[in-house]
Amino acid sequence: MEIKMVDLYNQYLKIKTEIDNSIAEVIKRSSFVKGEEVKIFEQNLANYLGIKHVIACGNGTDALQLALMALDLNEGDEVITTDFTFIATIEVIALLKLKPVLVDIDVNTFLIDTAQIEEKITEKTRVIIPVHLFGQSANMEEIIKIARKYNLYVIEDAAQSLGCDIYLSDGTIKKSGTLGDIGCTSFFPTKNLACFGDGGAVFTNNDDLAFKIRAIANHGMTKRYYHQFIGVNSRLDGIQASILNVKLKYLDTYINSRINSAKYYNELLKDIDGIITPHTVPWSNHTYHQYSIIVKNNKRDNLIEHLNKHNIPSMIYYPLPVHKQPAYKIYNYNDNMFKNSNYVSQNILSLPMHTELTPAQIEYIANALKNFSYK
Ligand SMILES: Cc1ncc(COP(=O)(O)O)c(C=O)c1O
Repeated sequence: MEIKMVDLYNQYLKIKTEIDNSIAEVIKRSSFVKGEEVKIFEQNLANYLGIKHVIACGNGTDALQLALMALDLNEGDEVITTDFTFIATIEVIALLKLKPVLVDIDVNTFLIDTAQIEEKITEKTRVIIPVHLFGQSANMEEIIKIARKYNLYVIEDAAQSLGCDIYLSDGTIKKSGTLGDIGCTSFFPTKNLACFGDGGAVFTNNDDLAFKIRAIANHGMTKRYYHQFIGVNSRLDGIQASILNVKLKYLDTYINSRINSAKYYNELLKDIDGIITPHTVPWSNHTYHQYSIIVKNNKRDNLIEHLNKHNIPSMIYYPLPVHKQPAYKIYNYNDNMFKNSNYVSQNILSLPMHTELTPAQIEYIANALKNFSYK
């Protein structure tokens, strides 16, 4: 049985005609950059998210950078975020000469531990960036409460959580990435909503921020060849937008398929003492961008080997927490403050998870996990 970590080709085959036609249409009209498809996609995504403005851009890293650039921050201003994320979240903070202030994670959910945010706030703190890791949301109500109290901006890193629902205490449901001042996402091929290359988007309900972000993404230009801001060149191209326009229609189906696969994994794996299956938070659903387990008793490397022998791929997201990354040693993080991210990075393992996973494949993977000695 051939099992892939992510199966993009079979997903494509199911909608091949629609995708091929939409790409052909862009080529026919040669609207490769800043064309109609991009405008339509921005509007479609805004409708889906229930937000006023969507600005498409080159990738998810750029989306975060554009968001920070729009906020008039000064060198040395502090940005609070999680110690356990893909490096892009931190990279953009450092590149803009801001200071990444890291918070440990909750050991069960792998999300930023909101109880530890307030103690990291100083007079230089300006922004909090929660990361909705692996497809479920950080505790946004709690984070927004803290941000309001200290007058901070919130930029949501929703690169892994597009389509995730957040259940607010007043009974309303909002989409992940739409509660903070600015939300950012990625359309990298493995993401919940994915294109056939690089792509990203920034979203906001704030008209002024939207105006500025759109300008910064296009060389700071507000009128042709008039540059009001120092900007960058970060654009989603027409072909990617046309693919995303097709795939957005299937996003909820894709998420349901991930959720069903996760449920089946949970059911089959629940009696294995040597692993912990993913925890879910009460304030959002889980879109299972990743299905990540904890392997107990320091057995992760042996388990990976065992899975490899059965041709089952697995991945470690992420083997090193940010505070231990060589490039970020300059910030002198204190290792003792990151007990949970240290533990999780040493014991976490992501199993195959994608929209095309079959029950038979999940059974095969679960059997291999059962036939392993965790002692
Ligand atoms: C949490 C997180 N933030 C940001 C990014 C950056 O997105 P991109 O790869 O599109 O630049 C990613 C994706 O790789 C991510 O997982």
